[in-house]
Amino acid sequence: QQVEPFDYVIFGATGDLTMRKLLPALYNRLRMGQIPDNARIIGAARSELDRAAYVARAREALEHFLPADVFNSGLVERFLGHIHYVTLDSSKKGAQWDSLKTLLAGADPDRIRVYYFATAPQLYASICENLHEYGLITPRSRVVLEKPIGTNMATATAINDGVGQFFPENQIYRIDHYLGKETVQNVLALRFANPLMNAAWSAEHIESVQITAVETVGVEGRAAYYDTSGALRDMIQNHLLQVLCLVAMEAPDSLEADAVRNAKLAVLNALRPITEGTAAAETVRAQYTAGVIDGKNVPGYLDELGKDSTTETYAAIRAWVDTPRWKNVPFYIRTAKRSGRKVSEIVITFRPAATAMFGATPASNRLVLRVQPNEGVELRLNVKNPALDVFNLQTADLDTPIRMEGGMPFPDSYERLLLDAVRGDPVLFIRRDEVEAAWRWAEPILDAWKDGKVPMQTYSAGSYGPEQAVRLLAEHGDNWHETA
Ligand code: BG6
Repeated sequence: QQVEPFDYVIFGATGDLTMRKLLPALYNRLRMGQIPDNARIIGAARSELDRAAYVARAREALEHFLPADVFNSGLVERFLGHIHYVTLDSSKKGAQWDSLKTLLAGADPDRIRVYYFATAPQLYASICENLHEYGLITPRSRVVLEKPIGTNMATATAINDGVGQFFPENQIYRIDHYLGKETVQNVLALRFANPLMNAAWSAEHIESVQITAVETVGVEGRAAYYDTSGALRDMIQNHLLQVLCLVAMEAPDSLEADAVRNAKLAVLNALRPITEGTAAAETVRAQYTAGVIDGKNVPGYLDELGKDSTTETYAAIRAWVDTPRWKNVPFYIRTAKRSGRKVSEIVITFRPAATAMFGATPASNRLVLRVQPNEGVELRLNVKNPALDVFNLQTADLDTPIRMEGGMPFPDSYERLLLDAVRGDPVLFIRRDEVEAAWRWAEPILDAWKDGKVPMQTYSAGSYGPEQAVRLLAEHGDNWHETA
C-alpha cells in the first residue's frame, strides 16, 4: 500500500550507503506502488552539485546496483523526478540551511519528514542542533540513525544525548538492517507460532546456538571507517546481538514495538559479562592474511590497508545468557571479512535423545535458519536406515526454502525499514537502552583486546577462520556448522 506523502531528507547523499542501498531501496518501493506521486527524496551533502548533476549520479547508482531488468522496468525517470538536492555541510551553520528550509517549506507543514543520517555518527548531534536552529523539526519529523551508534558507551551516550535533546525517543529510529531481513524476523514465527518448536526452545532441549555472518568481501572502499571499527563493533555489537536477542528472548506479549524491545533488552541485560579475566577463554580475534577467494588472489588486511593495525576482521565469541531458560547453553557468535563464502545463519543444536535403544546415541537434531543466501529452514532428523535389515539410524534433512510468491528474490532489508520510518512503526528499530546494554557487554571485550589479553590470530582469506575458533567449540564437544 501507498504510504502518506513524505519528504525524505538524506544527509550523506553522495555516500556509499545512499547509492548502494537507500536509493535502490526507495526505487524498488516505487515499483511496488508504495511511493505517492508528490513524495520527495532530498539529498543533502557537501558536494557542490545542482539537481541535474545529483540526479545523474543517482541514475548511475541505480544502474550499477540494481539487476538490469529492474533498472530497465521503465520507472527510473519517474523515480528520478522525486529527487532533489541541496549542497549542505550539515555540521556547520550558515546560509546553506536556508535552501533546505525553502525546499521543505514548499510542502504542507503537516507532511511527514524523515531525516536520514547516512553520515559519520559524530555529526548526528550537530545536525540535530542545526535542524532545530533552522526550525526544521516539526511534530511529524523523525530521524533515522545509521549504525554505528558510537564506538563505545561514552560516545554512544554522547550521540544519544545530543540527538535526544531535539527529538523525543519515539521520533528516533535507530536502524539495524539485520532486523529488516525476512529470515531474521522469521525467528519469531518459528518460535512462537509453532508449539512444537516453542516447547523445545530451552536449555532442557537445546545444547548450543550458533549465529554466523561471514562474507567474502574485504573492507572495500571503507578502510578508513573499518579500521577504526573492526568486526566486533561493525557486526556483533549490533546485528548479531539483535539476532541473538530474537533467538533467546521470552515471548513478548504482542508485536508492538515496546513489547518486543523490552523482551530483547532483557536478553541483553542477561548476557554474562566478559571480563579481562575471561576474554582469552571466551573470545577469538583475527586478521586475514593473503589468500584466494573465488579463484582470485586477494591481499591480506594489512597490505590492503598499507599500514600496521590491530583491528580485527574476524571475531568469534562464546556468549552466555544467564537466565533459567538458557542455563549453560553456549551461544557461539562469529563474523568475518574475506571468508570463503557469504553466509548468515542461525544454527540450533538440540540435545541428543537419551536412549540406549539404538546402540549408538542418535545424532542431535539440528535446526538451521538460513538468513542468506538460499533463505530457508532445515531440520536434521534421525530415521531408520532402509538399506539394512538391522535397525540402524541415519540422518535425513527436512529442508524448506522460504521464498516469495513466484520465486521472486526477497526485497532488500532496507526497503521495508525505510518506509517503516515513514509509517511511524518502530518495531524493527532499536531503542536507546538496547544500544547501551549492547555496549555495556561489548566494551569490556574491546578493552581486554586493547590491553593485549587476547592474542591477535590470523586466517588466510578464503578460509573458515582461525583454528582457535574451532577450539572454542571443541571444548564443549561442539563444532561449527560447516564442519559438522
Ligand atoms: C554492515 C557492515 O552493517 O553490514 C558491513 O557495516 C557488512 O561491514 C554488512 O558488510 C553486511 O550486511 P549483509 O546484509 O550483506 O549481511
